[in-house]
Amino acid sequence: MESYVKNIANNPEAIILDIGAGRKKYPETITLDLYHYPDIDLCANAEKLPLKDNSADMVLNTSAMEHMVNIDKILTEMDRVLKSGGFIFVATPFVFPYHPQPFDLTRWSADGLKRLFPNYTCLESGSVRGPHATLHRVISSYFAWLFSLGNYPIYLFLYMVFSWVFLPFGILDALHGQYRQKQSPLDCIVYFIGQKP
Ligand SMILES: C[S@@+](CC[C@H](N)C(=O)[O-])C[C@H]1O[C@@H](n2cnc3c(N)ncnc32)[C@H](O)[C@@H]1O
Repeated sequence: MESYVKNIANNPEAIILDIGAGRKKYPETITLDLYHYPDIDLCANAEKLPLKDNSADMVLNTSAMEHMVNIDKILTEMDRVLKSGGFIFVATPFVFPYHPQPFDLTRWSADGLKRLFPNYTCLESGSVRGPHATLHRVISSYFAWLFSLGNYPIYLFLYMVFSWVFLPFGILDALHGQYRQKQSPLDCIVYFIGQKP
């Protein structure tokens, strides 16, 4: 994905919009989020993007779609602002603990993500994080839940602690690179890169 962003950003005029960005990951992007995080360029709801039709060269939506309420409106808006021939990159959790920001509403498989963009050419699809990352998240979440006795702030603190304890599972996920474009039953984060006709 970084290589797509870099290639497109080689054109100084290119517009790369990162929706639900949280914090800026790529300096080349225009970031948009519901909240005023420090690096946010546009504070807006993705249901009404403040961009003209056919103006963006690439639209990113990573680990954010599961938090978005009116997903159909957001998909329509992503399509509206993207130029013909432009690229879309979407990544969402598949097997992943509940994590509201401000909501946590749904999950997609890699196949499910593809079906959200039936008219786009699929350039790549698969998992960004695989089963070891899933195990890392699930086991950390399980022990955090067990010892938090139902208190969510304590759960969040313990989740951080157990994420360190079980970090070796997370590190093992580095081995996952070669399997990226295959699906596993326990993919942690899946992705789709498509091109608008
Ligand atoms: C888990 S963060 C993802 C951050 C980042 N994209 C990443 O990959 O780490 C999800 C973000 O989506 C934002 N968000 C949720 N609903 C939104 C909406 N309707 N419009 C814009 N941003 C939204 C949240 O405020 C939050 O910052």
